[in-house]
Amino acid sequence: MESLPPTMTAWTKTRDEQGGFSLAEHSVPSPAAGEVLIQTLSTSVCGTDLHIWKWDEWSRENVPLGTITGHETSGRVVALGEGVTTHSVGDHVAIECHLACWECPRCEEGNAHICENGSIFGVHGHGAFAPYFAIPATNARHVPEGLDPGHASIQDPLGNAIHTLTGGPVQGSTVAIHGLGPIGLFAVNAAKAMGATHIIAVDWDNTYRMELAKELGADIVLGKDDDIVAAILEATEGRGVDNSCEFSGSPTALSNTIHSTRMGGYVNVLSVYGQAMPAVPMNEVVFRYLHIKGINGRKMWSTWDKMHDLLEQGLIDVDKVLTHRMPIAQFEQAIELALSGNCGKVVLDFDA
Ligand SMILES: NC(=O)c1ccc[n+]([C@@H]2O[C@H](COP(=O)([O-])OP(=O)(O)OC[C@H]3O[C@@H](n4cnc5c(N)ncnc54)[C@H](O)[C@@H]3O)[C@@H](O)[C@H]2O)c1
Ligand SMILES: [Zn+2]
Ligand SMILES: [Zn+2]
Repeated sequence: MESLPPTMTAWTKTRDEQGGFSLAEHSVPSPAAGEVLIQTLSTSVCGTDLHIWKWDEWSRENVPLGTITGHETSGRVVALGEGVTTHSVGDHVAIECHLACWECPRCEEGNAHICENGSIFGVHGHGAFAPYFAIPATNARHVPEGLDPGHASIQDPLGNAIHTLTGGPVQGSTVAIHGLGPIGLFAVNAAKAMGATHIIAVDWDNTYRMELAKELGADIVLGKDDDIVAAILEATEGRGVDNSCEFSGSPTALSNTIHSTRMGGYVNVLSVYGQAMPAVPMNEVVFRYLHIKGINGRKMWSTWDKMHDLLEQGLIDVDKVLTHRMPIAQFEQAIELALSGNCGKVVLDFDA
């Protein structure tokens, strides 16, 4: 057992307003039975953290004031709770933020990511914009030997991208990625790594991200000045792509996916839609015999196993998507940068 400080300061949502974070003092948690205590090495900023920063309706309903947020993280095991045999002190791990009961029908059928009694680490309870946190051992996934902690921390969004892509065929297939936020950019890169034959990347007006998509393996990049559906059909001999993935949250993009996927093809939707609920052209879905699938989280644990392989083989160009790293002291600047959109993934590093 390493000697641990009794207290720590952590970024905590303390005020009922936009921003509203303070560096508050907390006791260092002790791991309960079945849990491990992690010393945080890197935590990346997610779109969810931006919602909590803006303090929108969803955040006000889900995040209790006083919560330490942050859920995309990696670190080092520093203590074991009673009964933990799967981990040792010193192990490097990354976190699956969906906390599952492992007993409900959804967990039993292999869909723990939609556990009926689930909660999210760093949203409903304390998370990882803190130097230490406790988590069920099963949620602490071992990372490939020697992997940079910043790279290990982004497996939550990389896993979202891979889970979405694998809702349809990838190897030997044509793939369109709509929305080039960090998750869409990871999807472009993962599609390339997984052997897609032709990758079409689509954003609206974020030229910074459109450039990145080219570097990450997109064959064609489209934006608001293009006729998206016509361009995708033209690139696929008039058929449409085998597999369309929607990561933008824009109703227009959802409609584009449906009109530019081949007969019998796959449309996988990770996006969460805001005020503008999309009208779905159902007849097109029916007559084109499309498979439309909502995607949530990551499969526990097949998505993680796939990611482990890809990262271990160096097939994901994490450095290109991870555009900014800063010390945890600059949490507020990191959030502002992520809000501006002039970035890929932003990662906060801890002194450890
Ligand atoms: N279901 C889940 O488990 C889950 C998990 C994480 C994120 N999400 C959702 O996934 C989506 C992607 O997350 P992110 O953080 O990468 O997003 P982001 O908001 O950073 O990026 C969205 C991108 O879409 C682009 N865009 C806007 N309109 C477009 C259009 N009509 N066509 C194409 N692109 C357009 C924007 O310019 C932006 O670059 C979000 O909707 C998020 O809420 C879902
Ligand atoms: Zn996230
Ligand atoms: Zn369950």
